[in-house]
Amino acid sequence: MADSLNILVVGATGRTGAEIVSKLYNAGHTVHALVRNTVKAQHLLSPDIHLIEHDLRDYSGYDSIVQGKDIIIYAAGSTSFKSYYFGKNTPKHIDYQSVRQMAMAAENHSVKQFILISSMGVTHPFFFLNVFGRVLSWKLKGEKALRSTHLNYVIIRPGKLVDEGYAPEQCILYQDDKIRNQSISREEVAEITKQCVANPDLLRVTFEVVKDGLQTNEPLSSKFNRLIPDQNRTPYTQVKINA
Ligand SMILES: NC(=O)c1ccc[n+]([C@@H]2O[C@H](COP(=O)([O-])OP(=O)(O)OC[C@H]3O[C@@H](n4cnc5c(N)ncnc54)[C@H](OP(=O)(O)O)[C@@H]3O)[C@@H](O)[C@H]2O)c1
Repeated sequence: MADSLNILVVGATGRTGAEIVSKLYNAGHTVHALVRNTVKAQHLLSPDIHLIEHDLRDYSGYDSIVQGKDIIIYAAGSTSFKSYYFGKNTPKHIDYQSVRQMAMAAENHSVKQFILISSMGVTHPFFFLNVFGRVLSWKLKGEKALRSTHLNYVIIRPGKLVDEGYAPEQCILYQDDKIRNQSISREEVAEITKQCVANPDLLRVTFEVVKDGLQTNEPLSSKFNRLIPDQNRTPYTQVKINA
């Protein structure tokens, strides 16, 4: 097992976030969960998880929240449709500004790694999901803000998330942001995130991931080895829809 790390999971009561918390905790790490609803967190998460109650739209608390953390995993997302039309918890706040502010705080506090759960399709402004509050465009801006820091980051762009199925060895990693019909389970995203944690071969890299259903014996670590760091790919954020 890797050394025990101090890890902050943002969006820890989310469906993917809670899976990530559970996997990291079971791997022996000290997990801090940023949540906006402590009661929900107490129902969902192990009592050993350190809870930090905070609304992400309050950027002023970020410095003290990230202080002392080795790794930050950002799995929060605006629930875009409802919040865009009926509230203020918008993609602009949660998928962009909050990512940007947290990345800047992480850089100030020498955090070792920042893992962002983004989305397949962020470079496709006309993809139908972008209708909902331009969530994909804001996510892309969040990615760019993270890239503009000096942090060691990993940006994971999952395809459609589902709650059933677990076969991480069937996941394919790719880097042209092609829109694919396949989905991936939240538990599989959590496993991939766990394997990214403190993986020294993953330096400033972005990749998409879906499950293609084909059985391979290739471990994720070997798939990671084929990924091209962002600085060696130009352009890495501009492709046309239906590519
Ligand atoms: N759905 C898909 O098919 C899909 C595909 C690709 C990528 N993604 C992205 O993958 C990520 C995880 O998706 P998911 O479906 O697992 O997400 P989810 O279940 O909707 O969880 C989102 C999390 O963000 C938290 N959050 C939202 N606003 C907040 C605020 N103001 N302060 C603090 N926390 C806040 C939520 O808190 P509460 O628990 O209190 O609500 C929740 O924990 C998201 O970024 C999503 O956009 C989704």
